Amino acid sequence: MTTMLQSVLPASFSCLSESPSSLFKPLKLAGKEISPIVQGGMGVGVSAHNLAGAVARENAMGTIASIDLRHHHPDLMEQTDHCRDRDMIDRANLIALDREIKAARIVSEGHGLIAVNVMKAVREHPALVRQTCESGADVLVMGAGLPIDLPEMVADYPKIALVPILSESRGVAIVMKKWLKKGYCPDAIVIEHPGLAGGHLGAAKVEDLHSPRFEFATVIEECQKLFAELGLGKDAPPLILAGGIDSHEKVKHWLGAGASGVQLGTAFAVTQEGDAHIDFKRVLIGANPSELTEFVSVAGLPARAVSTHWLQQYQRHEPTMQARAKADPLRCAQRADCLTQCGLRDGISRIGQFCIDTKLVSALKGDLKKGLFFRGAGKLPFGKEIRPVRELIQYLLSGIMPLALRSDDALDILSSLNILSPQPA
Ligand SMILES: Cc1cc2nc3c(=O)[nH]c(=O)nc-3n(C[C@H](O)[C@H](O)[C@H](O)COP(=O)(O)O)c2cc1C
Repeated sequence: MTTMLQSVLPASFSCLSESPSSLFKPLKLAGKEISPIVQGGMGVGVSAHNLAGAVARENAMGTIASIDLRHHHPDLMEQTDHCRDRDMIDRANLIALDREIKAARIVSEGHGLIAVNVMKAVREHPALVRQTCESGADVLVMGAGLPIDLPEMVADYPKIALVPILSESRGVAIVMKKWLKKGYCPDAIVIEHPGLAGGHLGAAKVEDLHSPRFEFATVIEECQKLFAELGLGKDAPPLILAGGIDSHEKVKHWLGAGASGVQLGTAFAVTQEGDAHIDFKRVLIGANPSELTEFVSVAGLPARAVSTHWLQQYQRHEPTMQARAKADPLRCAQRADCLTQCGLRDGISRIGQFCIDTKLVSALKGDLKKGLFFRGAGKLPFGKEIRPVRELIQYLLSGIMPLALRSDDALDILSSLNILSPQPA
């Protein structure tokens, strides 16, 4: 008989058939039953086709971050690197997104789900949403702002599943009520903890990031109450928790406490298949959680990143730069106007004053001196090791470390239990 765990594990991981303590229900999404492990979208370019496809191949959901994907395509960069033409840059990015979705599908070998993350705060988000649908992604995940109008944007593409990213039950209630009035229920909801996740965070101020209202247990309880009040019963959207999920124990805990899935970012960013430069991965791996910093980005949202020399310098000079803030389109060096609202270009003195796209692209290329390296606050399951996606997902589901990382003691115990022996084909 196939156990529930076997049904969500890749076929190659058959040695766990006797592991009743690890029985996880599959996540039901977009007409499929997949692993409850989700890889979160990571821009710029950190989660592109290679990572998302590799995750999907393991019967999980891999997410491509849609922002500025042209950087993975030398031909598109040749056309747009110095062009200062916003429309040309936008067009190149839509072509890149199309290529990435199709390439991820090939890597996935038809397994799992391919999702695309679109940030509401990005000026071109309606075009990115359209391209995501046209290129045949399974799931559209939207964060960095309340995605109230997402159902209308995808009205011509009824097959795509919609997943908002929110951080507290108040936001969930707003989105649910607005969407239900339009006859649409989210297919799932990512609950991202601003005190733990990497990248842009769903709180108004840095001081709010660790507020008790974001605690997963609180949000789950309040959402379940809300879904009951809304009379959703078994149609209630599954909740996927994101931020600081860094061990099998946490996966087990939260999947047993009302969540239907868990989303990880940082741990996937540093896998072998992660689409960023190896030096990007080394920076994330080398920074322990106490070396992270929280600040307000140019998009006006708090963010969490590795406290590199550049970021320390920026934070030191930020008050002076804010005092000199001035609305000036020429301050957008590339004229790409990537954000709807940008502290630097629009002269908004209370928020960040640097070009976030340039900084994230430098990080993608592994440039420690210039890059901005987003990172979540959790530990890395494999410490300083860069391992394949398959091993990460297997560890998260089973608690069993890859062979190469097991201590001699653990190897002795496992061999005495006879679960390391080769499996019959
Ligand atoms: C390098 C990096 C880039 C990220 N970029 C995005 C992004 O473009 N859009 C988004 O919605 N979330 C982004 N995130 C958040 C992740 O998708 C994920 O929800 C979060 O990192 C989970 O927390 P963890 O890193 O502790 O696992 C990013 C996170 C990291 C580490």
